[in-house]
Amino acid sequence: MRIVILSRGSHLYSTQSLIEAGRARGHEIKIVDLTRLSFVIDDNGNSQILNEGVPLDSYDAVIPRIGSSVTQLGASVIRQFELVGTYSLLKSSALLQSRDKLRCSQKLAQVKIPVPKTVWLGYDQDIPAIVNQLGGYPIIVKLLEGTHGNGVLLLDNLTALRSIMNLLMKKGERTIMQEFIEESDGADFRAFVVGDKVVASMKRQAAKGEFRSNLHRGATATPLTLTEEEQEMAVKATKALSLEVAGVDILRSNRGPLIMEINASPGLEGIETSTGIDIAFQIMLHLEQQLVKLKNYSFPTPQK
Ligand SMILES: Nc1ncnc2c1ncn2[C@@H]1O[C@H](COP(=O)(O)OP(=O)(O)O)[C@@H](O)[C@H]1O
Ligand SMILES: [Mg+2]
Repeated sequence: MRIVILSRGSHLYSTQSLIEAGRARGHEIKIVDLTRLSFVIDDNGNSQILNEGVPLDSYDAVIPRIGSSVTQLGASVIRQFELVGTYSLLKSSALLQSRDKLRCSQKLAQVKIPVPKTVWLGYDQDIPAIVNQLGGYPIIVKLLEGTHGNGVLLLDNLTALRSIMNLLMKKGERTIMQEFIEESDGADFRAFVVGDKVVASMKRQAAKGEFRSNLHRGATATPLTLTEEEQEMAVKATKALSLEVAGVDILRSNRGPLIMEINASPGLEGIETSTGIDIAFQIMLHLEQQLVKLKNYSFPTPQK
C-alpha cells in the first residue's frame, strides 16, 4: 500500500525505523513535513491535500508522528486526511485528547483506571486544603501540555507552591497539581501498546538527583516485562483514549500501578534499542490488519 508518514524528517530514528519496516512489507512510503502541507476543503468531494503542489490524495494510510509544538496543526492535517478518506493510524480527536493531561486523567478516571490524584486549581486560597487532599508535600505541578519532563515541577512548601501557582495562573498557563508518588523512587514503566497488546516494555530510572524519568533528561532504560495487571491497564487506557499505538507510562505506587501519562506519538529509539524488539514492524502489521478489516485490503503473510 501507499503510506504517508507525517514527520519532521527521515533522519529521525522513529521515522527511519517505520520507513524500513514499511519497505520490508513491500509498501511505498512517503515522508511529509506537515508544516508544509496546503489543503483544500470542498463539499463536493473534491477536498485535497497538497505537498509542495503535488496532491497526496491517492495514499491508503497515514502514520502521524506529531511533535508537541505542532499539536493543533497536526490535528487539522489529520482531520484533512480523514476528510479525503485516508486511513489514519491516529485520529485527530484522539491526538487532541491525549495531549491534554487534564482531559487524559478525567477520561481514565471515568473508566476506573487508577491515576495519581490530580487537581485543577481555580482559586489560590484553596491551595492548603488541596495539598492536604493530595497527601501533603512535596507536590507535583504540571503544565497541561508539557513534554520531556520540561513542565513538571516538584514543590515542597506553601510559599514556593503559592508563588509558582500565582505566576503560572497570571501567565495563563494551564496546570494541574498532583500527588507525588514518592515510592516510585524516580522510576516509571513504559508499556508500548500496538492494537490490543503490549508489544514491548521497559523501566526508566531517573538520573541521580532527578525525580523525572524522561530519557531526554538522562534516565536509563532497561527492558522489563510488566505484570498482567499492568499490561491490561495499559491496553484499556489506550482504548479509552481511542488510540491504536501508545506509549503508556505507569508509576508503581503503594496502592498498585497508576497510569501517569499516555503518549500518542511515542518515540521508538529508547524502547527499540533497549528491548531489541522491532516495534515499527508491529505497527506496520497492525496498520495492515486495520485495512484488511475496514477496507478489504489483502497483504502477504509476514515472515518474521
Ligand atoms: N505524580 C508523580 N509522582 C512521581 N513522579 C512523577 C509524577 N508525575 C510525573 N513524575 C515524574 O516526572 C516525569 C515526567 O512527567 P510526565 O507527566 O510524564 O510529563 P512529560 O509529559 O513531560 O513526560 C515522569 O516520567 C515521572 O518520572
Ligand atoms: Mg512523560
